[in-house]
Amino acid sequence: MSRAPTPQTGLQEAAEESALKNEARMELERLAAELAAHDLAYHQSDRPLVSDAEYDALKRRNAELEAQFPDLVRADSPSLRVGAAPSAQFAEVRHGTPMISLDNAFSEDDVAAFADRARRFLKLASDETLLFTAEPKIDGLSASIRYEKGRLVQAATRGDGRAGEDITRNILTLADIPHRLAGAGWPERIEVRGEVYIGHADFAALNAAQEAEAGAGKAPRTYANPRNAAAGSLRQIDPTVTARRPLRFFAYAWGEISAPFATSQWEALQALKTWGFPVNPLSRQVEGVEALQAVYADLERQRPNLGYDIDGVVYKLDRLDWQERLGAVGRAPRWAVAHKFPAEQAQTVLEGIDIQVGRTGSLTPVAKLRPVTVGGVVVKNATLHNADEIARKDVRIGDTVLVQRAGDVIPQVLGPLDPDRSDTGPAAFDFPSECPCPLKTPVTRETTGAGVETVVRRCTGEFACPFQRLEHLKHFVSRRAFDIEGLGEKQLQLFLDEGLIAEPADIFRLAKDEAKLNLLRERDGYGEVSLANLVAGIEARRGVGLERFIYALGIRHVGETTAVTLARGYGDLDRFIAGMERVAAGDEDARAELDDLDQVGAAVVEAAAAFFGEGHNRLQVEALAAELQVAPAEQPRTDTEVAGKTIVFTGALERLTRDEAKAQAERLGAKVSGSVSKKTDIVVAGPGAGSKLKVAAELGITVLTEDEWLALVQS
Ligand code: IVH
Repeated sequence: MSRAPTPQTGLQEAAEESALKNEARMELERLAAELAAHDLAYHQSDRPLVSDAEYDALKRRNAELEAQFPDLVRADSPSLRVGAAPSAQFAEVRHGTPMISLDNAFSEDDVAAFADRARRFLKLASDETLLFTAEPKIDGLSASIRYEKGRLVQAATRGDGRAGEDITRNILTLADIPHRLAGAGWPERIEVRGEVYIGHADFAALNAAQEAEAGAGKAPRTYANPRNAAAGSLRQIDPTVTARRPLRFFAYAWGEISAPFATSQWEALQALKTWGFPVNPLSRQVEGVEALQAVYADLERQRPNLGYDIDGVVYKLDRLDWQERLGAVGRAPRWAVAHKFPAEQAQTVLEGIDIQVGRTGSLTPVAKLRPVTVGGVVVKNATLHNADEIARKDVRIGDTVLVQRAGDVIPQVLGPLDPDRSDTGPAAFDFPSECPCPLKTPVTRETTGAGVETVVRRCTGEFACPFQRLEHLKHFVSRRAFDIEGLGEKQLQLFLDEGLIAEPADIFRLAKDEAKLNLLRERDGYGEVSLANLVAGIEARRGVGLERFIYALGIRHVGETTAVTLARGYGDLDRFIAGMERVAAGDEDARAELDDLDQVGAAVVEAAAAFFGEGHNRLQVEALAAELQVAPAEQPRTDTEVAGKTIVFTGALERLTRDEAKAQAERLGAKVSGSVSKKTDIVVAGPGAGSKLKVAAELGITVLTEDEWLALVQS
């Protein structure tokens, strides 16, 4: 029912409206400051403070308020800004034409509205069919690469859209990006634009490598997600660091051109392809707005299996003459829109925080959640990373929290939603000062070799801590250690609970202890076949190489490679044990001998001293030695073609697995390295080889195909 305004209600409404407007003004001010801080954290330090969804929500709120009160749009409004101003470390590059961004669509209605706007603007009849290209929205960072007479002359990040950072030397290290344009028909001057990104597998490997490096006393520089890893990798002052990072590229747009080269986006993509750029193979030409939805659904379905992150689908009106007429409004073109995938997020209640103890005693807080479906998967646990993160996010047991699942990474708790912080609300979480294990050891805050406090809290109980014991045993039987078939976490936990094993040597004792095996038969329903398999699995590993033996001990900082170095350095088990005992006793000669081994540093010396300094560890090693036949280390051969050479494998191998190739090379006396440097002798490159191949070419290193390599080592 409508009501004629009386003077009084009119006044009241005016007053209400001005109060609302005031609130909006203040909120816009807060949003501008907050979004500016997020932009800065994201673009300049590659370390976002909030999730994409939170960021998008703030941006959306800002846009809503501005739509409601157009006269309140601030000069520094986030809607007028694309990113942060370029960082001072790189020279500034002004873009030939601005690098604009895209408006987002979050629903089918938003997409329809986008198409209607374009149709109205172009004054098209309502029955005129619109042609689009639909392209996956790659979640990386955009780059603009300038070519003159077909030669790459400059490359820049987006920066604030008008000017970015000069990353020419970094871009030159990407194998996906041609230094000279192939084919024909390219304009004399062109800025090719696209997305630099890192694939999931490469991201995981990069983070693992970063972590391993941190193990040697440096602070870890792992990345939160592939996009930050790509940004961090591209924006390296030293381009040789970029060269070692697995950066990839998809071209999808262009900036300044000296002459037109296509009449449609689709044609342009084909041209970019013929000039040597990777163009996303899932890009499609689509007729009609209605058909876009099917493409969206299809890409959303494929998203988990692509091997790289996409966060939506970009629809571009295909005809370039229409694009030109439509132009841009503010920071975004009228001819394109990004249809975003919903973030895989959900709200639930944080019911508890468990402290998980890792193999080396590190304590990780794990959120116990009221089960909730996030992106099709039921989530009950999520990581809270460490004590500092809990404090920073101020998450408390009882809070409703936002949970996010990104790809196949462990779900994360992003933070509390609308938390009750009154006196009756939940209390702040007190990180335990004692390990939750029965030993209740005091929890120490770890410091690096240089004495800097890290975020890691550690239980000092080592093998006496039953939690660490389980993790330790899991490591001992794992594939790259003793690789005992039929013995996994479930069985180990059962055997521990039954008191059948307590330490690694017990596994071998169990295999010949009829009384204990009987117990498994009677109490735990083990059948004859599974018992026989278990015993066979254990017996098969009584003979073991010194390399695996050392790796299986789980000494901190002693990964597979270091284990091989130690095995070769000491030769056999007796000499290894004698050497380690002297290291633990503080014998300077013994410590120097260890330190002198290739790639062994202070962290390994200290870790070895700590491990063998513990009586129970020494007893354990002796008990194991009594059960096993430990073969002396395989010494590197000196009589082969590749003896003493450093080899790098890159790209896909088709005849051998990476592990096989590495083992074979090492058997023949070669050293296998993960990165190309001046010390590299041979790079073996398979299909899809990236930046490493380029570095090899620049350094003049011999590059072999897999077949050539096989011919060399099998001759
Ligand atoms: S077109 C004017 N196409 O998304 C057109 N952008 O949110 C500019 N992006 O800055 C971009 N995949 O970093 C375009 N196929 C694609 C894209 C794409 C990813 C990124 C790009 C852009 C951002 C906009």
